[in-house]
Amino acid sequence: MSLRYRVVIAVVLVLVLGAGAGLAMAGWQARHWLRGELTSAQAGGQLAVSRTFSDLGRSDAPINDLKTLVETFDGNRHIQAVLTGADGRQLAASAPEPATPPPRWFASLLREQIAPVRLASPRGGAVVELRPIYANDMAAVWPEFLDLAFVLLLSCLAGAALVWMVVGRALEPLSAVGHVLPRIGAGDYAARAPETGPPELEGLSRGVNEMAERLAVMRTRNRALEEQILTLQDEERADIARDLHDEMGPHLFAANVDLTMMAGHITGGRTEAALEQVGAVQAAIAHMQRLVRDILGRLRPPRLLELGLSAAVLDLVDFWRLRRPEVAFETRLPPDDYDAPDQVLETAYRLVQESLSNAVRHSAPTLIAVTLEPREESLWIEVRNDGAPGQAATPGFGLTGMIERVAQAGGTLQAGPADDGAWRVAASLPIALTKKGLAA
Ligand SMILES: Nc1ncnc2c1ncn2[C@@H]1O[C@H](COP(=O)(O)OP(=O)(O)O)[C@@H](O)[C@H]1O
Ligand SMILES: [Mg+2]
Repeated sequence: MSLRYRVVIAVVLVLVLGAGAGLAMAGWQARHWLRGELTSAQAGGQLAVSRTFSDLGRSDAPINDLKTLVETFDGNRHIQAVLTGADGRQLAASAPEPATPPPRWFASLLREQIAPVRLASPRGGAVVELRPIYANDMAAVWPEFLDLAFVLLLSCLAGAALVWMVVGRALEPLSAVGHVLPRIGAGDYAARAPETGPPELEGLSRGVNEMAERLAVMRTRNRALEEQILTLQDEERADIARDLHDEMGPHLFAANVDLTMMAGHITGGRTEAALEQVGAVQAAIAHMQRLVRDILGRLRPPRLLELGLSAAVLDLVDFWRLRRPEVAFETRLPPDDYDAPDQVLETAYRLVQESLSNAVRHSAPTLIAVTLEPREESLWIEVRNDGAPGQAATPGFGLTGMIERVAQAGGTLQAGPADDGAWRVAASLPIALTKKGLAA
């Protein structure tokens, strides 16, 4: 059953109960009033009868006097007087005002048992009985009861209609939200719930809309990250291919030439010259070994887990020092003697890696400074370079990735142009750092 029906039914129930209680109360009061009317009428009648009784001593025809007394009760609304002789026969009865009695069920609800008053005459053995008449008073109460019931019925109906309207209007935004949520669930993040209605529902709609907006932003960011991963992979492959081609190629060729010459020297018996060639081949091989190590290092965070973050960062710096001899590199790296979760170490490493390659790609730096600093409950990372063009960045895949990683690690990040034409990336990653070996 819909919420609207439930609320209306509950309200109608309360109204009907209230109306019932009101009617019962009115009935109880009517009963009370009825008893009062009838007993006071009896008391009045009793007074008149006893007055006649006291005059009976002087009467010649007491029975006639009593009949006259009974006649005086004709037209009475509350009581009927009945005269009975000594032999038990009814001698006379008054004619009460005629009345249309109310429905029987109503009469039986209101009826109070009031005993008739019997008064024995001092002469002649006759008895005057004053019997209560219910019909007249009940007939007077009945239309009032009908009016009251009608008014209560009307107010119940009006109350139900009002609640039906108010609840319907109040719940309108809720059903709108009910339509919008499945659309958002199906990926339609442009769907919006109307922000109207009572404050609670307005807040609900606003929350749903904000959620949809945030989901849309997250989807865009996810797509950007996916693209970034693909682009990065492509870039890295191209880099590696170039290194293999440009650096390995010539050295392999040179080693080959050296070996051919060495073979000539050996067959010619020129040992000294052959040994010189051996040295050249060894130098070429050593160079290629370094190159292979570099490439491996870029494929995997090198030695991050084995040696620690500072050593790995130093490797990164060395990588660029070799390729940008004109740039001065400054490092402030702590000894790797603290414990931090792998996620934090990896985040810090990737941050430095991207910041270094951004520095050489987007600036003309003369100095790049890398700082790592374990603090009370966080790891502080800062990469700063001079020679930046000075305008604010439009985040590309690199910055987006950094923001994403740092957010995942629960840290804070600032990246952008700083004072004096420098560019600064600074992050704080939360972590309870402990000294290795001292940790519990
Ligand atoms: N060290 C830096 N010096 C100057 N500009 C930078 C530096 N790092 C980032 N930027 C600016 O921020 C932009 C976004 O960087 P990033 O998100 O890494 O994307 P990408 O490197 O792919 O361009 C860069 O295009 C550049 O304009
Ligand atoms: Mg970049």
